[in-house]
Amino acid sequence: MKLATAVQMRELDRLATEEDGIPSIDLMEQAADGIVQTALELLPRRPGKCRAAVLCGAGNNGGDGISAARKLFLKGVHVRAFLVGSYEKLTQDALEETRRLSECGLELEHFEPENEEQRAWCGKSHVLIDAIFGVGLSREISPESDFAAAIHLINHCQGTVISADISSGVEADTGRILGCAVKADRTVTFTLAKPGHAVGDGALYAGDVTVWTIGIPEKRVKALTSRVQTVHETYAREALPRRKEDGHKGTFGKVLVIGGAVGYSGAPYLAASGAVHSGCGLVFLGVPESLWAVEAMKCISAMPFPLAEKEGGLSCKALPDLREKLAECDVLALGPGLGHGESAVRLVHTLLDETSKPIVLDADGINALEGHIDSLDGRRGRVTILTPHDGEFLRIGGELSHGDRVRAAREFAIRHGCILVLKGHRTLTATPEGNVLVNTTGNSGLAKGGSGDVLTGLIASLLAQGTTAVQAAALGVWLHGRAGDLAASRLTAYAMTPKDVISALPEALIEIGG
Ligand code: ACO
Repeated sequence: MKLATAVQMRELDRLATEEDGIPSIDLMEQAADGIVQTALELLPRRPGKCRAAVLCGAGNNGGDGISAARKLFLKGVHVRAFLVGSYEKLTQDALEETRRLSECGLELEHFEPENEEQRAWCGKSHVLIDAIFGVGLSREISPESDFAAAIHLINHCQGTVISADISSGVEADTGRILGCAVKADRTVTFTLAKPGHAVGDGALYAGDVTVWTIGIPEKRVKALTSRVQTVHETYAREALPRRKEDGHKGTFGKVLVIGGAVGYSGAPYLAASGAVHSGCGLVFLGVPESLWAVEAMKCISAMPFPLAEKEGGLSCKALPDLREKLAECDVLALGPGLGHGESAVRLVHTLLDETSKPIVLDADGINALEGHIDSLDGRRGRVTILTPHDGEFLRIGGELSHGDRVRAAREFAIRHGCILVLKGHRTLTATPEGNVLVNTTGNSGLAKGGSGDVLTGLIASLLAQGTTAVQAAALGVWLHGRAGDLAASRLTAYAMTPKDVISALPEALIEIGG
């Protein structure tokens, strides 16, 4: 599903009003219909028995709220609308909505943070509608302002909170919280969802998001090119490589997993298992020779083989054997449990330099790039997928201090010509062309050692089966998260382990036609 930035939304509104001749007040009225329908659905009793509070800013988002207040009033809800900010700042459309409201006998009251009677009304409201800021939020909300007081009040009330367009306080393009923000139960957004609903803290503040159409012509919405999209089941279903009826194990690709060091025998095994359980034809697992017997005991389907070792990790002397095996394989998954010995680091650099095969680089494979990130640039044009968590990302020069993960991932992928899978809540897949795919599956049960190894194997396996590199990354992340969600629903996020994620993969695959 494509996501639109604040600038793109403004442009759509402009085209609809100026080019297509749709009055902006009509767009506002339709936006209000979406808020009202959601509010009515969420009322615990019939409208005449319910109270609502609508907190409005002076911009057009406030206008949506004022209109919604009138419509709720006409449905019989006991509603009061409060203006947070000053009457002088009301936009033309918001002023018109205020006039229509008072025509119905309802006034737009000025919000006074210390007014106990207003606070009590909000406290007793079954539904609170947040229409303070929409995509127009452009700076930090001052902690002493009435805006901050209104946001805190909403967050302390018992009623169900509906945000109009986006939670007030969340920056639409980044999901950053600018000072403080409304924690919504539901968000009714208009025309298209925004990055702020899907990434960063914004994703945690949005609640369930519904997209409501407000009358902007479909052709305008279709013509909008978006560089950020969310990945849902439909994407996963389409990206899943079809299996040839008459295929043999060579048809479905060969993955070589290289990793492991003394103390890290689980990581390469989990990566190999992720590959084995997601459709590729053959999986080889190269580990230091002292780990080989351990891996051989655990692996039934993957084929472990021993490699020369030094001080408990892989030695550069392993390179000839590695090259030989890699020549037979389609994809290299490099790094799980590799350790950070000098030899392992040199081995990573050599393989990155010399092989033209697609590489999925994870964990210590990524750490080996610390201080040497430019060595990635030589692989431009060859498929390289990096799967760092935030710590690894920072280690290799990623920039997260501005709090805009989408921008950070995009800039890195463009700069280094790689596909970047930036793991975390709502994992991002960024492409060298500057597109970013936001994942929508997964839960805190995946935040455990070994999860990332499973993901590495999964992505390598999908790549070996012939998906594009971007699809392998985005589908791999989606499947991993979905299997994690299925595991959590049975076992809880506390008790589930990476092995349970692997066990849930069949069910996740079946859901998307696998
Ligand atoms: N503290 C205080 N004030 C702030 C802060 C802050 N931290 N950040 C922004 N503001 C102010 C801005 O300065 C601005 O006021 P100003 O115009 O006086 O400068 C105001 O907040 C803007 O707030 P919003 O209501 O979020 O922005 P906008 O007026 O652009 O409306 C919109 C956003 C279009 C309503 C969108 O969120 C939405 O809901 N769209 C649905 C469609 C719709 O209703 N369209 C009708 C309008 S059509 C048209 O505009 C052509």
